[in-house]
Amino acid sequence: MTENLPDTEDISRETIIMFLNSKGDDRINLFRHAAEVKKKHVGNKVWLRGLIELSNVCAKDCFYCGIRKSNTKVKRYNIRDSEVLEAARFACENNYGSVVLQSGELQHDKFTRRIEKLVKQIKGLSEDKLGITLSCGEQSEDTYKRWYDAGAHRYLLRIETSARELYEKIHPSDQIHIFDNRIVCLERLKKCGYQTGTGVMIGLPFQNVTHLADDLIFMKNLDIDMCGMGPYIEHSDTPLYRYKNQLLPIHERFDLSIKMVAVLRIMMPYINIASTTALQAIEKTGREKAIQAGANILMPNITPGKYRDSYSLYENKPCTGENAGDCLHCLDIRMKLAGADIAYGEWGDSLHYGKRSKAAQADLQQKI
Ligand code: 5AD
Ligand code: FES
Repeated sequence: MTENLPDTEDISRETIIMFLNSKGDDRINLFRHAAEVKKKHVGNKVWLRGLIELSNVCAKDCFYCGIRKSNTKVKRYNIRDSEVLEAARFACENNYGSVVLQSGELQHDKFTRRIEKLVKQIKGLSEDKLGITLSCGEQSEDTYKRWYDAGAHRYLLRIETSARELYEKIHPSDQIHIFDNRIVCLERLKKCGYQTGTGVMIGLPFQNVTHLADDLIFMKNLDIDMCGMGPYIEHSDTPLYRYKNQLLPIHERFDLSIKMVAVLRIMMPYINIASTTALQAIEKTGREKAIQAGANILMPNITPGKYRDSYSLYENKPCTGENAGDCLHCLDIRMKLAGADIAYGEWGDSLHYGKRSKAAQADLQQKI
């Protein structure tokens, strides 16, 4: 299989499926090839995004998610603004380069204003040193624009699965869980000028390798700048838990996730790909494996310790009991062992975004 490995980008659906099913030497060669593509196009650096989980209050009821609205067992929290700013200051002082503000999904004016204000304050306190990614769900174009104008320049909105019928099985069928709206929001984000990221869960009930291949093609066609995807981990307080006996064994979900990272790196050599925490929930060195197979972004959790247990999207979430300083120290060593260097104090913007913007400008100039 190695001789036939494409240099970059143009891979057929059949080849993607073959990669995702690969075993033995073919599997090892896939990872090796993805690592080469990464080194050649984006280098061996890893950029940090300090993750601040603002609030687990969520208006949605996704069937897989531990912080869904109907889960009454969750202790709901809302970090005080002063604590968010303290976490951002910590990120700044420790040279993280960027932070991610993530929260349950809320769509009201007060929330819009709160995020807008926090973004401005973080920009101010870091003297523009911290890059800001938002992950606050589906919003109106006006809200996305306000947050962009306040200083956020990247946005993550996972499509969760690009297969409409599967999306509909894992979400309630009502006005706030509409597949098409998610796509509209991704387009809005690009239109506003964000580096736009999406991603999927891997190993969902009813999902097969063909769905996953189509997820990768979806991301390629959408021309995304960033990706965060990881294994689905069943949560006992959610409706999808009843299908737990129909799932792939957890280590196969893990392996498929690493393969997804590798294939996406080959298909989209210049994007940023996160090595997600869910990988570490399954294997202690899970994130390192994704870095070795093509990922280049890490999102250490810097949410104040007392809230972390309550942001339980899935069970066994790692590092919930540690303080953020410990995490950074161990990450540095772990990354070195995985052959990568953390790029402290750098934004680490998506090179793909830069290329996409230049191409759009050139296109415009030709038309003028
Ligand atoms: N397993 C894995 N990932 C999950 N997420 C939510 N619930 C789970 C779960 N049970 C992911 C979703 C969401 C992101 C914030 O967390 O993809 O977009
Ligand atoms: Fe909160 Fe899905 S349960 S966005």
